[in-house]
Amino acid sequence: MTKPRNAFYAQSGGVTAVINATAAGVIETARKHKRHIGKLYAGRDGIVGALTEDLIDTSAESPATIRALRHTPAGAFGSARFKLKGLEQNRAEYERLIEVFKAHDIGYFFYNGGNDSMDTALKVSQIGTALGYPITCVGVPKTVDNDLPLTDCCPGFGSVAKYIAVSTREAAMDVASMARTSTKVFVLEVMGRHAGWIAAAGGLAGTRAGEAPHIILFPEIAFDEAAFLARVKQSVDTQGYCVIVVSEGVKYPDGRFLAEAGSRDAFGHAQLGGVGPVIAALVKDKLGYKYHWAVADYLQRAARHIASKTDVNQAYAVGKAAVEYAVKGMNAVMPAIIRKSSQPYRWVIEPVRLADVANVEKKVPRNFITAEGFGITPACRRYLSPLIAGEDYPPYVDGLPDYVRIKGKSVKRKLKTPFRI
Ligand code: F6P
Repeated sequence: MTKPRNAFYAQSGGVTAVINATAAGVIETARKHKRHIGKLYAGRDGIVGALTEDLIDTSAESPATIRALRHTPAGAFGSARFKLKGLEQNRAEYERLIEVFKAHDIGYFFYNGGNDSMDTALKVSQIGTALGYPITCVGVPKTVDNDLPLTDCCPGFGSVAKYIAVSTREAAMDVASMARTSTKVFVLEVMGRHAGWIAAAGGLAGTRAGEAPHIILFPEIAFDEAAFLARVKQSVDTQGYCVIVVSEGVKYPDGRFLAEAGSRDAFGHAQLGGVGPVIAALVKDKLGYKYHWAVADYLQRAARHIASKTDVNQAYAVGKAAVEYAVKGMNAVMPAIIRKSSQPYRWVIEPVRLADVANVEKKVPRNFITAEGFGITPACRRYLSPLIAGEDYPPYVDGLPDYVRIKGKSVKRKLKTPFRI
């Protein structure tokens, strides 16, 4: 029998309300496979923890703490936006990773992230071959943007979708109450850099004609100012008010974002934010209506108190499957959620190749957006509805959710050389 090897788990990219549920799935399952997996180390702040040999020993965490991760939002181990370049461009980073993996006898690599992270996971999986170090690498899906291909949805999305659908419905009731004498327009800005899945979820708020949101602005549809303003006016004239859900990624026909904050992250992505006030000011300027706007920002992806039960279950399931694949020796794969039916929603987890996932963005298809470009179709509703189904409330103490913090015990460093990132 071969000797068990240690494993490395890292959270990557923007965190979610349920990424820790995936961590719980990974850790609890690894603990059941002691014949294959010795210790499970987590990177402090993601891959940066691996490069700087800053590892957390998850075996120091109690079963109760790991169980509580299932209802705790954000990244318990810390996450990172840090892109490993190609092997040719920055061999030093890969050599350092191998050095750290070797020093700690790490034979399994679990990388929990979105689009860019699956690319990194794929590259790390190639290290084994290129640098002669055997490592089994599994990407574990996560992104509120819901833009990974081949999986029905991405863990993290269902909970954001639920938060946005609920918030849109509630804020719309507020505006409707005030509209006769005060606010006529409410704008909610949501995340989703290149894909409008989260904006689409706002559309779940209304189920009958005339109900909010009256306008959804998708990154997939070039912004048409005249058509938009006409629609706002029509909504105020007929309903008395207008609720708009706008994706941070909305662009002008020439490809410029309506709101670009100016800075870029490690992957070269523009930092977005602020399209809500841009849209609200446009409405005031051209139509004169009183408005309120809100930017859901981190509130939406941290909102564990109103998480989708479906999402929590899927997040845990992909973590569990990732470990099961790894101990079977399946390399360079990602557990994907495969929809078997929509009503009732039935799904299974199946492996897909990282090479087929990395760097591919799944956008909202045109047949999910109404012809004039401002709403969602019944097909889109059928796709989205099951993903927000069910509640999985965290325990509350003194009126507040009782979230857990890990001890975060450091693994003793073995390497002499520091590594600067
Ligand atoms: O990648 C997910 C995401 O939530 C995007 O929708 C958003 O643009 C981005 O992350 C924000 O990331 P950060 O927290 O690094 O600014």
